[in-house]
Amino acid sequence: MAEAQEGSAQHRRSRTAGSRPSTSGRGAGCPAEATILFVGDLVGGIGRRTLLECLPLLRERYAPTFVVVNGENVAGGLGITPKTADSLFEAGIDAITLGNHTYHRREIYPYLDSEPRIVRPANFLRSQPGHGVCVVERDGVRLGVVNLSGNLYLRAGRSAFTEIEVALGELGDVDHILVDVHAEATSEKIAMGWHLDGRVTAVVGTHTHVPTADGRVLPGGTAYITDVGMTGPRGGVIGVKREQAIESLLTQMPVRFETSQEDPWLMGVLIRCSGPMRASSIEQILMPRPESPPA
Ligand SMILES: [Fe+2]
Ligand SMILES: [Fe+2]
Repeated sequence: MAEAQEGSAQHRRSRTAGSRPSTSGRGAGCPAEATILFVGDLVGGIGRRTLLECLPLLRERYAPTFVVVNGENVAGGLGITPKTADSLFEAGIDAITLGNHTYHRREIYPYLDSEPRIVRPANFLRSQPGHGVCVVERDGVRLGVVNLSGNLYLRAGRSAFTEIEVALGELGDVDHILVDVHAEATSEKIAMGWHLDGRVTAVVGTHTHVPTADGRVLPGGTAYITDVGMTGPRGGVIGVKREQAIESLLTQMPVRFETSQEDPWLMGVLIRCSGPMRASSIEQILMPRPESPPA
């Protein structure tokens, strides 16, 4: 179990998840070496199952120190519930990030306040449930996780570009920082990558559910990608059954959307970290759900 604590000052004093004392090896050898697997928006039960079925293969292949997932669509395609979040933590996920669908399920509100390892955008209003940063620890390496929302075409009460400074200040002493920028506009995400280059280990984009081909390590040592993509059905339209999405666009009338079950894939990135706050590589992972063994 990873240790975790909220970075937010008002929460930090109240809880620290996990009881293992710090075994930080910082200062000895190459303590900041780590590998981070970040997985894009889990869409519905099929997205969650795809993650859980791919995870053993990915752990064997890459031995990630940390696994962080975006869970904003994991409960039936919209939002997250305590039960689905618990199932992800039970599978060994270190931290969960969210986005514009954070508050779709009311039952998650108290959970967002009480569970340190789940973060909603830090630039939401302070009065909204939850917190925007957390710190998790494994193998003596401390990873800060920050969630941000874009301000273009999405509802976020405060500027991502000003609130990131507050969020970084709340993290304290960490070896690496992963920032999930949940945003619609590519320009905002690219600008955030440059803005944070050299100050954090990775800036990864989410929300569009479509992976981009621009993963790279920026000159200052920050791994960057505009969008990681989703973990869910490629046979739909960004997660929705394609017939329903097309009908909605054709008729311009309300259509009840359901999660597609066709052609599920895991989409993520693997970030290898060298020195503190430095990435040496970012590798895209696009992987179909493993075939079920014949009955
Ligand atoms: Fe989103
Ligand atoms: Fe999403």
